[in-house]
Amino acid sequence: MSAINYIKDNKQKFLDELFDLLRIPSVSADPAYKNDVLKTAEFVKESLIKAGADNAEICETAGYPIVYADKIIDASLPTVLVYGHYDVQPADPLELWDSPAFEPVLKDNKIYARGACDDKGQMYMHVKAFESMMQTDSLSCNVKFMIEGEEEVGSENLEIFVKENKSKLEADIILISDTSMISLDTPSITVGLRGLSYLEVEVTGPNRDLHSGVYGGAVANPINVLSQMIASLQDDKNRITVPGFYDKVAELTEAERKALNDAPFNLDDYKKDLDINDIRGEEGYTTLERTGIRPTLDVNGIWGGYIGEGAKTVLPSKAYAKISMRLVPNQVSDEITELFTNHFKSIAPDSVKVKVTPHHGGEPAVTPTDSLAYAAASDAFVEAWGKEPIPTRDGGSIPIVSLFKDALGLDTVLMGFGLDSDAIHSPNEHYGVTNFMKGIETITLFYKHFAKRSQNS
Ligand code: BES
Ligand code: MN
Ligand code: MN
Repeated sequence: MSAINYIKDNKQKFLDELFDLLRIPSVSADPAYKNDVLKTAEFVKESLIKAGADNAEICETAGYPIVYADKIIDASLPTVLVYGHYDVQPADPLELWDSPAFEPVLKDNKIYARGACDDKGQMYMHVKAFESMMQTDSLSCNVKFMIEGEEEVGSENLEIFVKENKSKLEADIILISDTSMISLDTPSITVGLRGLSYLEVEVTGPNRDLHSGVYGGAVANPINVLSQMIASLQDDKNRITVPGFYDKVAELTEAERKALNDAPFNLDDYKKDLDINDIRGEEGYTTLERTGIRPTLDVNGIWGGYIGEGAKTVLPSKAYAKISMRLVPNQVSDEITELFTNHFKSIAPDSVKVKVTPHHGGEPAVTPTDSLAYAAASDAFVEAWGKEPIPTRDGGSIPIVSLFKDALGLDTVLMGFGLDSDAIHSPNEHYGVTNFMKGIETITLFYKHFAKRSQNS
């Protein structure tokens, strides 16, 4: 039997297993789920053993463990290192889910659950592709798996693990499914990811909450001040005003910009999907450019003062915001964090005190399109989808991609099968059954073409 037929025959089994995986709430950000996160690591390890791996192990870290497994069939064959993550984002706000986040359901041929797409569904495609090749004696490359449980909280311990296990992780290419494709009609391969700089700011006014009548008008209100400071971070062209912010931004050539904008994109559908009357972004760039190759600054959360029922007249002592900046080549996360911190402090009026605390960050990445592995991925898409995939730049971040290049000297192929509309990180996250099944096929075909092209090179 061919691997492709094995996949088709086992559709229901694959889905049942994925549902079991999705039922474990592996929320890495919230310590209340600690046991579930650990249980998920066990589940992944067991599934890799059942699929045919040797040496499957739970590798302890200072945080959540990394699941490592491999199958080395012949040292002379190329080795694929699969990376994925078994942790998920918190499911909040729970009341906005149509069905419970950790009770997966099938609706309109889509799987609804937290992690259905990001990344349990996409990661599990690799386990099932591996099983399908093992069961049909058609595995044509060595394979190593490294599945972590802290991606959604910054991958700090993975960084240490990678640096300490360079020989264990020796490979020819890294293969990741944790990004999106354009649509079921237009397959694509992600060749760029943005970096991230994330910080929290605290603005303090008076030493205690005050009566807003007794003191209002005479003492700085930290919420008013924070709002003005935030508003000043973008100018009337929606460019970021932090001095030096754009200094290292790589500008694309006209030809590169044209290629990027050749990807199908319908502005009306985009606005309709999000229920917005208009879009907004940096002047002089298209939507695809704004999310793919331009840096951003966004407030992710803002709080302070009285937010309970009814009205309380109060001039608060403190105001807070969480601010993220998405970065593009060749910006450097730590440098941008420093530029922001200095600027933010410099624009604060004397009437308040400002504290800036950096959170995790990560570097942007671009992956080559002229490599043997990219060509093999392209072959796989052509065979599975009947169309040549378009190279695209995604706006999200997978910080370890640049780390893999720096620490292991390895390039990555980002073979993602999600759709932007899958609502990852949002209520009602889902993943198409077609994406899941065709993804497994495409991954299987990647191994075939990667082995073939490696042999001929
Ligand atoms: N899988 C996503 C990243 C992603 C999503 C890339 C869609 C391309 C398209 C990943 O799990 C993620 O959410 N990353 C975080 C960064 C991390 C440091 C918390 C992100 O992009 O916010
Ligand atoms: Mn992910
Ligand atoms: Mn994510």
